[in-house]
Amino acid sequence: MKSLEDKIVLVTGGGSGIGRAICEVMAREGASVVVADFNAEVGEQTAADLKAGGTNALFVQADLTKEDQVEAMVKAAVDHFGRLDCACNNAALSRGRGAIEEFSREDFEFALEYSLTNTWLSMKYEIAALRANGGGAIVNISSNASLRGDAFNTPYATAKGGVNTLTKSSAAELARAGIRINAVSPGVIRTPGVQKYIDENPDVEKQLNKASAVGRMGEPSEIAEAVAFFCSDRASFITGQLLSVDGGATVK
Ligand SMILES: NC(=O)c1ccc[n+]([C@@H]2O[C@H](COP(=O)([O-])OP(=O)(O)OC[C@H]3O[C@@H](n4cnc5c(N)ncnc54)[C@H](O)[C@@H]3O)[C@@H](O)[C@H]2O)c1
Repeated sequence: MKSLEDKIVLVTGGGSGIGRAICEVMAREGASVVVADFNAEVGEQTAADLKAGGTNALFVQADLTKEDQVEAMVKAAVDHFGRLDCACNNAALSRGRGAIEEFSREDFEFALEYSLTNTWLSMKYEIAALRANGGGAIVNISSNASLRGDAFNTPYATAKGGVNTLTKSSAAELARAGIRINAVSPGVIRTPGVQKYIDENPDVEKQLNKASAVGRMGEPSEIAEAVAFFCSDRASFITGQLLSVDGGATVK
């Protein structure tokens, strides 16, 4: 028996990287998948590939920082599949690295909007749909950058710290409604974006491998497996938790 048989799952940022891998593992586990992304080209591609593999999939274009588009995204999912069972809030963006006192207010607020406010907005409408369905599960994607500080990356690390608190507070609030809310915190993952950075700066690969205790970067599918577990009924007594999937980076 597949662990997400007959579940309707929404994945934000499903067009590329970790989000795409989450869509693929959800599909493998029997879910119908709503792929949400503001990049229509990559989002359509994920949905088309899932459909080609026999999965019920729907692409919805939405910018998660725009409340009307988030509302429409959840409505499109429910209209198409009849309900929502699970959601993974994976999409995030930030820009710039540098000394804390040199960040512009625009770049600080950009990270908060695109990595924290987007998650809250998504949850706002997902929770309404899950309540209407009698319960469900949400998994937010955080980052190890939020766990012990990330020098020269303060806005993003701060936003992801907010995602952790959002996860725990909402889990406490919604447990009696049958909605479990957890977070997965990736270490360094070999996404196409990270691979491109390595290709341009070959010297950094060793350093990135050394960030984990196991001596390598993670694969997007290794994050996706944890997300699928949290969504499944196998995690029925788990809520408000933050799981680092990082090859032991946090214990190194
Ligand atoms: N790659 C890593 O090593 C790593 C490490 C720690 C945490 N993370 C987290 O994992 C998640 C996925 O990261 P990734 O590396 O796969 O990213 P990615 O950039 O490869 O993919 C993100 C996807 O989200 C979409 N997206 C971004 N903002 C959006 C918005 N406002 N509305 C709609 N779509 C939006 C993009 O179009 C893209 O398809 C993020 O939350 C990131 O912070 C990644």
